Amino acid sequence: MLKHLLLGVTGSVAALKTPALYQALSGSFEVKVAATDPALYFFDRRELPEGVLHVNADEWPRRDQGTSYQREDPVLHIELRRWADVLLIAPLDANTLAKLACGLSDNLLTCVYRAWDPHKPVLLAPAMNTLMWEHPLTAQHWRQLIDQYRLPAAPAGASADELVAWINQHGRTLAVIGPISKKLACGDVGMGAMAEVNDLALTVQALLFPPSSHTSRA
Ligand SMILES: Cc1cc2nc3c(=O)[nH]c(=O)nc-3n(C[C@H](O)[C@H](O)[C@H](O)COP(=O)(O)O)c2cc1C
Repeated sequence: MLKHLLLGVTGSVAALKTPALYQALSGSFEVKVAATDPALYFFDRRELPEGVLHVNADEWPRRDQGTSYQREDPVLHIELRRWADVLLIAPLDANTLAKLACGLSDNLLTCVYRAWDPHKPVLLAPAMNTLMWEHPLTAQHWRQLIDQYRLPAAPAGASADELVAWINQHGRTLAVIGPISKKLACGDVGMGAMAEVNDLALTVQALLFPPSSHTSRA
């Protein structure tokens, strides 16, 4: 049973929707949030219930008081990994996509991803400016994830949209909730906005609880 959902939030303007997304998901899951420092710029942490939000500083208790790690201290990214049945990163910005692709683990969220149990589902909801989405690096990073998950090699020259479709066709524990086209916060119009909150929550449910079975995609 997939009941614990860890919502990773990164520094896209779509992180504004974190409280709404938390609400939409918490009807179906027990939700905890792991936010990057840039993500915190976009929403008011007081809009999340006490104890739900985990931030980078929580990984390093008492560090600002000059106290070092004590042997019995929990390692937060491993605790969250153990707790979570599914990891949803929404929004996934270009920077964190690049980190996931390369295996960089320099904050709480990327450490969770790097320490993730590959048998548990990972759902990614990218959000970025249209030119970022269309940049060859974005396709390259999806290709690296395809390789990381040992999915069949995608056709040469595939665009970011085509690679997302490829991942969704072949992925067992990895799925991408693709961006939508609309007027972006920066004023540009085009592909790159995070899926709407209610659609995103419904897609998460459909991916994890397909009508034909009572088991997860994993
Ligand atoms: C106002 C503002 C909006 C941003 N929106 C996005 C976005 O939608 N997508 C994106 O990939 N980066 C966006 N960025 C850039 C990221 O915040 C930046 O790359 C940051 O380093 C990401 O760090 P993180 O991946 O650790 O959260 C935005 C930056 C600012 C200042």
